[in-house]
Amino acid sequence: MTDATPVSESREGAVAVLTLQSPPVNALGSALREGIRAAIERAEADPAVKAIVLIGGGRMFSAGADITEFGKPQSGIGLPDLLNRIEAVGKPVVAAIHGNALGGGLETALACHYRVAVPSAKVGLPEVKLGILPGAGGTQRLPRIVGPRKALEVIVGGAPIGAKQAAAMGLIDDLAPEESLRAHAVAFAERVAAEGRPLTKIRDREDRIAEGRDDPGLFDAFRTENARRMRGFEAPEACIACIEAACRLPFEQGLAFEREQFLTLVSGEQSAAQRYVFFAERQTAKIPDVPETTPARPVAKVGIIGAGTMGGGIAMNFLNAGLPVTIVETKREALDRGLGTIRTNYENTARKGRLRPEDVETRMGLLTDTLDLDALKDCDLIIEAVFEDMAIKQEIFSKLDRIAKPGAILASNTSYLDIDAIAAATGRPGDVIGLHFFSPANVMRLLEVVRGARTSQDVIATAMQVGRRIGKIAVLVGVCHGFVGNRMLAQRQREANRLILEGVKPWDVDRVIHDFGLPMGPFAMSDLAGLDIGWSRETNRSETVRDLLCEQDRRGQKTGAGFYDYDAKRNATPSPVTEEIIATVAARQGVAQKPASDQEILERCLYPMVNEDAKILEEGKAIRASDIDIVWINGYGWPVYRGGPMFWADGIGLRRVLERLRAYEALYGDAFKPSPLLERLAADGKGFKDL
Ligand code: 3HC
Repeated sequence: MTDATPVSESREGAVAVLTLQSPPVNALGSALREGIRAAIERAEADPAVKAIVLIGGGRMFSAGADITEFGKPQSGIGLPDLLNRIEAVGKPVVAAIHGNALGGGLETALACHYRVAVPSAKVGLPEVKLGILPGAGGTQRLPRIVGPRKALEVIVGGAPIGAKQAAAMGLIDDLAPEESLRAHAVAFAERVAAEGRPLTKIRDREDRIAEGRDDPGLFDAFRTENARRMRGFEAPEACIACIEAACRLPFEQGLAFEREQFLTLVSGEQSAAQRYVFFAERQTAKIPDVPETTPARPVAKVGIIGAGTMGGGIAMNFLNAGLPVTIVETKREALDRGLGTIRTNYENTARKGRLRPEDVETRMGLLTDTLDLDALKDCDLIIEAVFEDMAIKQEIFSKLDRIAKPGAILASNTSYLDIDAIAAATGRPGDVIGLHFFSPANVMRLLEVVRGARTSQDVIATAMQVGRRIGKIAVLVGVCHGFVGNRMLAQRQREANRLILEGVKPWDVDRVIHDFGLPMGPFAMSDLAGLDIGWSRETNRSETVRDLLCEQDRRGQKTGAGFYDYDAKRNATPSPVTEEIIATVAARQGVAQKPASDQEILERCLYPMVNEDAKILEEGKAIRASDIDIVWINGYGWPVYRGGPMFWADGIGLRRVLERLRAYEALYGDAFKPSPLLERLAADGKGFKDL
């Protein structure tokens, strides 16, 4: 056994077992690649070795290429060459997979002659999520083993699949018991060596790709079906083209085509952005004054106050994670309605085949409903999700202070209000925190964890951990109006509203934002959310465009009209009524009419957000610029291929952003006043990335 290299070599009879030892994920960096090459060549040259098993040490087989090496000069053997080398070994090479075999990790397994896995293993080619494609033969080998249709799903979808499913596709040759992968793989290797079976190289297989030759239309059909989710991204199309090439071209030519496409993508802006996001997501967990060793409080039972859309959605997260939830309302009807919605959501998911019918009952079985706040007395975490009214929230928290057991975490789902003022209603402000979910709360991945001035460290650690446990990306933010996400949104909304009063059509603003890559523009979004949030006929002052739209019962999609008119299928068309309303308000306010180019619309909507980000950072309301990017990507649909507003602004150059902000400041005043941080960075020729 030699431990000096990242591959340890040992012998089981006539089988050489090569164990990848590059924690934490066996990323295939240059040292590991060289280590594998050397070990493989030694085993091949040794006449006593009849077969080779390649297995991962630690948590997994391999998470693929070392992403940190992209964009740097390559040292040592490249992954494609290494894999060709493995495939050419004249003795059976068996990949033994546990944990994950992803990206280059799965490509390595595909270059082996056989693949054995434990049922809990996951395999996949997620490169598309990094803005690239499987660049070590994956686009050529996978279709040869599972056929082009499945290869499209795996490569363009990017989601990992379980070993059992992979075995059913022919991707895994044999499933091993969970606890004896190594022994099972060695026995498998001995058997194939003893049988003297010819070595099966995936490159030589032609049977499965015939489907792509016989039915070339399948690729266009896939493009059409998936157009929406691929919109704006470059990598998915390149993946499809490579799989098409696999069906059309001889293997070596297909590999060359794949390489060319890979190199184009990996040096492009989208991949740089998506790789940045990969690491940014992982950064969010790191909190300078809350070390990872901070002990978290146990959370085994959750209480939720409010069974409305938010409360119900929040409850589903915990039920999905197997945690019992007690949900409280003030009226029986509201409670029944809330429970009904949760059940319907689950049943719809089950109908689509994404949840087993028995799981609907298991999850509903974890839910207790009550009208009695006292029922929350043994909960470890209580989340208040009632409407945005400070007095009501304070009243609830002062009651909770009396009811909740010592050490329970008291959280508010407020999206704007001051957590410190809420905490002040209790005698235990250290236990109070904000957990801001985004609607629909059971779907959106973002969770803003809002730390108050006195929130204790272990409460923060627990909240971040709970976030991960329920599958969210938790980002720690500070107390300010709207926290990070909505505070930025307010900037965009203000400018969008000003633009339409100047005569730009709402649909033109929406088009520009949509073309930029967001799922919808500000007006389509308002229509979806409902224009009457926070509006009431009693307090209406008939001042804004929104006031006048609501007065006419144009309250958004739900009433069939808002900024847009909607048909029965909720298709939107521009509305002349809205245009008239806007003209009326503009005339009343004496707003000068002026056209704006698409570039101006974009700048005026997005640059104030970037400027606000700089203020958020200056005020310490976010830990790092990349956290802000993660908020906007996961809470508001900012296109991941643009890496978030801060990353995007860095790409433009902060000098340019500053110059445009100053120009707009001259026209529109303080709303565009550049933040001192932005000015300083621009003056130094730096970006947010340099902070
Ligand atoms: N390269 C470099 N670092 C990686 C990495 C990779 N492929 N995969 C994970 N890491 C790092 C993470 O950044 C993290 O570092 P940190 O501790 O400093 O924050 C550490 O390894 C542990 O990772 P996670 O926190 O993500 O661990 P999890 O257990 O939660 O998840 C995983 C494990 C599912 C494997 C997840 O890490 C993952 O999805 N990794 C990326 C998989 C991937 O995209 N592979 C394709 C790579 S590109 C490629 O292979 C190109 C080829 O086709 C040529």
